[in-house]
Amino acid sequence: MLQRVRKILLFDEHVCPWWLGYFFDNPLRRLFHKPDALFRPYLGPGMTAVDIGCGMGFSTIAMAAIVGAAGRVIAADLQPQMLSIVHRRATKAGVADRIELHQCLSDRLGITATADFALTFWMAHEVPHLEAFMEEIHSLLKPGGSYLLVEPAVHVGARRFEEISGHALQAGFVPAARPEIAFSRAVAFEKPGIIHSAAAHHTDR
Ligand SMILES: C[S@@+](CC[C@H](N)C(=O)[O-])C[C@H]1O[C@@H](n2cnc3c(N)ncnc32)[C@H](O)[C@@H]1O
Repeated sequence: MLQRVRKILLFDEHVCPWWLGYFFDNPLRRLFHKPDALFRPYLGPGMTAVDIGCGMGFSTIAMAAIVGAAGRVIAADLQPQMLSIVHRRATKAGVADRIELHQCLSDRLGITATADFALTFWMAHEVPHLEAFMEEIHSLLKPGGSYLLVEPAVHVGARRFEEISGHALQAGFVPAARPEIAFSRAVAFEKPGIIHSAAAHHTDR
């Protein structure tokens, strides 16, 4: 047990265990991560979003509020315990009707939906096969869709972050912005294609 805790704390273990989720998904985090402000540039009412490695749903629930009753958020994670917690929290927040839970395999996301926005928040460094992972994210997005990659600055150094971003570039994404996100390194990518802004989507409806 002690050995396991040591491996986790040193980030020597690939996947964050579900119970450690309470450590970074709690009310304190809202003081420095304002999910509404973080995701509004990419999302609007009626859109489809994918929260990959959603954990306990910190971002999922906020995105569900932004897309509204006509939109959809796919909460995807490897661990069923995370998905159960997302479901419980979404029900409490009154947004469960627009959230779809999806359990991924360790080597494949397996998401069949087509989305406007994909998010990986503090999770891509846990993925062993980043090449296939980024290709899957790229293929599930609509042309003109956005992908926000956010990694924890504490244990993903600048060089490792460039390596992870490099896989996104290889998959065909183009960098669009470098948002400032507390304790993080982040890039917003676009899948080249038609212009697809949240505002345009809203007025089209
Ligand atoms: C450090 S947690 C971050 C959770 C959440 N994104 C947040 O910001 O609170 C990383 C999450 O990614 C999930 N994960 C790791 N590898 C994954 C993979 N290959 N596919 C889907 N989920 C994965 C873990 O189960 C865990 O819930």
